[in-house]
Amino acid sequence: MTTLTSYLDQHSTNTELNDVITTVTNVGKTISQLLRKGALADILGEAGNQNVQGEEQKKLDVLANDLLLDALAENTHCAGVASEELDNATPANADGSLLVLFDPLDGSSNIDINMAVGTIFSILPYQRQGQTSENSDFLQAGNQQLAAGYLLYGTSTILALTITENVVMFSLDPDTGDYVLIEDNVQIDADTSEYAINSSNYRYWRAPMQQYIDELIAGEAGVRGRDFNTRWVAAMVGDVHRILCRGGLFTYPFDTKYAHKAGKLRLMYEANPMSLLIERAGGGATDAVNRILDIEPTDIHQRVPVVLGSKNEVDYVKNLHVNYSEK
Ligand code: F6P
Ligand code: MN
Repeated sequence: MTTLTSYLDQHSTNTELNDVITTVTNVGKTISQLLRKGALADILGEAGNQNVQGEEQKKLDVLANDLLLDALAENTHCAGVASEELDNATPANADGSLLVLFDPLDGSSNIDINMAVGTIFSILPYQRQGQTSENSDFLQAGNQQLAAGYLLYGTSTILALTITENVVMFSLDPDTGDYVLIEDNVQIDADTSEYAINSSNYRYWRAPMQQYIDELIAGEAGVRGRDFNTRWVAAMVGDVHRILCRGGLFTYPFDTKYAHKAGKLRLMYEANPMSLLIERAGGGATDAVNRILDIEPTDIHQRVPVVLGSKNEVDYVKNLHVNYSEK
């Protein structure tokens, strides 16, 4: 049996990174326990305020955020923290070598209905050790990530992680509190017939995305010549997990639903960590034209269109967009 602790010891000589991953995943155990208690722990419902994105915060969004923030502030290797729930990055320990970004509770509309939610995290190097970290220190492209992963609080709690070229998965044993290795080299098939999108936004999409979904819905009768199937968890972490398990395409595309927002998902603590996991598992991740991991961020909360998953299908969507813009 390989636990997370022994895996980190064997595969990473960066003990500071290992320590920060241990802190994040330990908080994940607490969040997992709280979710299991659910209504009995008085953690459901609205917190009564909005985050910087103008979204209603749930009690558990706030709680998960505070648990991660407090634990990382205590970790001497963490120089700063950026979160979906914090307007600005919070400095931690100036001597630390790492910056941690997270979505403390992804898919929070699922909390109150007892459906899957998760924690997404991304770890970047800190370049100004000894000085207090600022927002601008976090503005590094996703290809700089030292580690990325998520915790999925589903029927069981799963940790997906990448610190080497491999993507690995652990399952949390509720009896021992250990994360136990269940997959040591996750790989996604290049082809798929399964896709995830919130189709209610159809009228807000660009023409090539509308064309793509029209083609999938036409199925065997259309240009694709085969039927496709939709799955939508309404928590990115759940959709990405399904894709790592059995392939598929996930997209939250550019839309004109909200002025000045390039889609819904956030680059730095949603798209980047998920793109690293997906690419290292052999898949693709694009904003429909460019590789997500190469985008130079200008704001810690910036949004980005996301198309990720099985390589050939992601390339198909990309080609539709590139050909369209060249017309
Ligand atoms: O974090 C944003 C998010 O909750 C994602 O996890 C999820 O994929 C998406 O929003 C769901 O969006 P919608 O409400 O449009 O279904
Ligand atoms: Mn989210």
